[in-house]
Amino acid sequence: MRKKVTVVGAGNVGANCALRIADKELADVVLVDVVEGVPQGKGLDLLESGPVQGYDVSVTGSNDYEPTANSDIVVVTAGFPRKPGMSRDDLLMANYEVVRSATEQAVKYSPNSILIMVTNPLDAMCQAAYWVSGFTKNRVIGMAGVLDTARFRTFIAQELDVSVENVTAVVMGGHGDTMVPLVRLSGVSGIPLTELLDTATLDRLVDRARNGGAEIVKYLKTGSAYYAPSAATVEMVESILKDKKKVLPCAALLEGEYGIHGLFVGVPVKLGARGIEKIFEVKLSPEEQALLQKSAAAVHELVEVLKAKR
Ligand code: NAI
Ligand code: 2OP
Repeated sequence: MRKKVTVVGAGNVGANCALRIADKELADVVLVDVVEGVPQGKGLDLLESGPVQGYDVSVTGSNDYEPTANSDIVVVTAGFPRKPGMSRDDLLMANYEVVRSATEQAVKYSPNSILIMVTNPLDAMCQAAYWVSGFTKNRVIGMAGVLDTARFRTFIAQELDVSVENVTAVVMGGHGDTMVPLVRLSGVSGIPLTELLDTATLDRLVDRARNGGAEIVKYLKTGSAYYAPSAATVEMVESILKDKKKVLPCAALLEGEYGIHGLFVGVPVKLGARGIEKIFEVKLSPEEQALLQKSAAAVHELVEVLKAKR
């Protein structure tokens, strides 16, 4: 039997997730959105690409959750994107309401699913979905680290004029300006990055990765990135559906790992059929640990606002 993935939010990120899932023939897809006609229209348009692209999966759209029943994965992209001059944190309360109602309805129909959260501010929205769903922590996962490392890898590959495929990078922490690209753990085909680039260049690339989301917003003006975000989300979907056990940076609920308690923060995890199957705890230097704590403190601040207002 085919796998089934629900994508809540048929906007830029959601529709591109659906497209990539269909193109890779990973699962049947149900797109859900509040705007009447949009998920239905985009779903049908994607379905009609099947004969050309050569996929047989079904893609449908809906304004309610009944057709999503028994999904293996629910990807939540519903919400409002960041506008120029708006921080990810400004989105907090508006998107909390969206995520709360989307999660409530999705898990009612798919109680055994795995949730992949995309809506910003990402780490706080993972926390909201965890509260609302009542799921175990391995089944609530946030997409940010795969995107942040993809950006960092792109800039490293450009600088060195090497294949992006040879560049590995580690970015931890919250999905925000305090994210922690770990230069010491990044490299090119096993060669440490610190042996390939000087400190000033590394600092420049780290800074660009940290501000990668804002760089795209500045160009687009009316929205935020969606091609790389959808690619990153679907890498996670694929690892879970195929039980590939890829090790990817994702937002996970930490309960003591890295000295962080009860917060979703980006760390390397193993993604398989059970969702998060392992959290990798890398030994950090005191400086790296301090940066991670600072990033976790920024997430904590948002979660406290949610706790007070929900
Ligand atoms: P978009 O505006 O293109 O799409 C959002 C869609 O959500 C719209 O179609 C809207 O009608 C729908 N929506 C709103 N309320 C809804 C509800 N209650 N139920 C169902 N659908 C609802 O925005 P885009 O570019 O797709 O971004 C979506 C979210 O993903 C934003 O919060 C954005 O900041 C975030 N994002 C996060 C990334 C990450 O790394 N975690 C990367 C890129 C975007
Ligand atoms: C990004 O990093 C908006 O969080 C989104 O592109």
